Amino acid sequence: MSQKIQSLSEYFQEYQESIQQPEEFWSRIAKNFHWKKPWDSVLSWNFDGPEVKWFENAQLNITENIFERQLSTHGEKTAILWEPNDPKEPERSISYNELFELTCQFSNALESQGIQKGDRVIIYMPMIPEAAIAMLACARVGAVHSVVFAGFSSTALADRINDCEAKMVLTSDGNFRGAKNIPVKEVVDEALEKTTTVDKVIVYQRTQESVTMKEGRDLWWHELIQSESKEHTAATLDAEDLLFILYTSGSTGKPKGVVHTTAGYMVYTHYSFLNVFQYEQEDVYWCTADVGWITGHSYIVYGPLLAGATTLMFEGVPTYPTAGRFWEIVDKYQVNQFYTAPTAIRALQAYGLEPLEPYSLSSLKVIGSVGEPINEEAWHWYHDHIGKGKCPLVDTWWQTETGGIMISPLAGITPNKPAHASLPLPGIQPILVDAEGNELKGNNVEGNLCIKFPWPSMLRTTYGDHKRCKDTYFSTYPGLYFTGDGAKRDHDGYLRILGRVDDVINVSGHRMGTAEVENAINEHPKVIESAVVGFPHVIKGQGIYAYAICDREGHTDEELIQEIKDTVRKIIGPIAKPDEVQIVPGLPKTRSGKIMRRILRKVASKDISNLGDTSTLLNPEIVDQIINGAGIKNS
Ligand code: WTA
Repeated sequence: MSQKIQSLSEYFQEYQESIQQPEEFWSRIAKNFHWKKPWDSVLSWNFDGPEVKWFENAQLNITENIFERQLSTHGEKTAILWEPNDPKEPERSISYNELFELTCQFSNALESQGIQKGDRVIIYMPMIPEAAIAMLACARVGAVHSVVFAGFSSTALADRINDCEAKMVLTSDGNFRGAKNIPVKEVVDEALEKTTTVDKVIVYQRTQESVTMKEGRDLWWHELIQSESKEHTAATLDAEDLLFILYTSGSTGKPKGVVHTTAGYMVYTHYSFLNVFQYEQEDVYWCTADVGWITGHSYIVYGPLLAGATTLMFEGVPTYPTAGRFWEIVDKYQVNQFYTAPTAIRALQAYGLEPLEPYSLSSLKVIGSVGEPINEEAWHWYHDHIGKGKCPLVDTWWQTETGGIMISPLAGITPNKPAHASLPLPGIQPILVDAEGNELKGNNVEGNLCIKFPWPSMLRTTYGDHKRCKDTYFSTYPGLYFTGDGAKRDHDGYLRILGRVDDVINVSGHRMGTAEVENAINEHPKVIESAVVGFPHVIKGQGIYAYAICDREGHTDEELIQEIKDTVRKIIGPIAKPDEVQIVPGLPKTRSGKIMRRILRKVASKDISNLGDTSTLLNPEIVDQIINGAGIKNS
């Protein structure tokens, strides 16, 4: 626990050290781990390639650092607490010793089914301990996991399987989510009709749903592990060997496979977990994310387990069976650190204070927020009613690509300022730039958020397409990693994240590329062209607004709108379903044929003041038609 910063002055001191002597700093932090072979150099990098290597030529296995390194002191400690979707079902509590045995057993199962170091394995599972066991077993044998959120459609799943040429899929029969029972195995079966690389599917029995098991391909998890030993020798990995691929949306094309490697990710998730949440050994920590997202990877599974923490996993949703479910769980397990998304807070805030009444929440020491900018109203509600005004609120800014929390208060150390992610963690060097890439120095400035120096858990590439990684993140401002976010540095030097400045919409904390949604809409046979923008949404943060030019023949607008929504749900998944669809006669275009999204965003937000100069449009008349169609009075 020596790695925990204890005071603000220590933070400033450690921060200075981390930027003046990054290699010394990170090698000091990394010495805490078990390395099979030490590194030759701490860091080599250039952002032009980009090529970044941390702890080069070191050898290790991340699961040995979770298990073997800690079992003598933490063996009996609870590693995972699991709360089922249905509160009437029994909970589970798994110690580090037990988790180790389960991981070893499943590692042997993976190997007996032909999985070798470097193979890609898709995990499409509910929020059950076996999802974490699946990830850990992959890491233990050196396979590269790619977790796909179990709400994605079969097409989205197939795209990901094909992109990384996965050899295996780990899934379940069904998935309990609130009052629903989602037949996930069927989705996998459908996806596999569009893929050729998967040899084996391992199915965990969760809902006792009757499913079709394909002979020679599909195996039951419980049957498979029966004959496997609970001992396993971890594979030896190089520091820069792939740990996982996680697909995320960007402003262009299909989702890309963000690649994270072993050693740097391990060092940084552990360090950031301990410091941001100020975890103490007896604490119970709960992050409400899904393992299908980066937050689940870094701060349900890897960070907490590397720190020997007790991490709570919840299978269900915040409002089932009642809007008090989160608070019931906090009291039941005496949760000390609670980490969730602003969208969940706003959704629960809408139920008022009554659902909170039966619960004391007195165990809470730290509350956290992630995934999207937290508006001040939600910040105060969370701080006052959940944190009871006494818990530090850590507003943590980071991304799938950054692997770990980059900008955040350290709980109880950094003074809290509502809606401000505040200050960078040690080792993180954020800068703000103007449109031309000039650094905006000093305070009271607003610009595009970039990072100018590598950090251990940064993405290394986008799977199978290194040029795309360079183009997306390292070309807008040469020599800098560009985040896609805008931010403001206030008069105290504290950072406030303003949101995406590219064509990415943040819906309930989930990233959706507008191009991706448009591509899905365009699959509808009656759609001629479409344009998608975000608009402010009280609960979701941003909602999805789609404009579509359609061949209306034989269809009412209502039918088309419903069908378009269904098409997106089918192609991507329910999270991408547009909130609003407007059938339009045309889209505002510049003379070079580019859609003027600025106008579409304004109409979607029902704010048509300052539409700007529309006279240069190819079709200026369309603007009024769109405004009228949206039911806005053009005064
Ligand atoms: C947004 C989630 C404001 C941001 C960990 C970023 C935030 C994107 C915050 C990454 C925050 C995340 N304040 N905005 N505290 N945290 N974001 O990859 O726009 O799912 O670029 O990673 O979410 O989303 P991702």
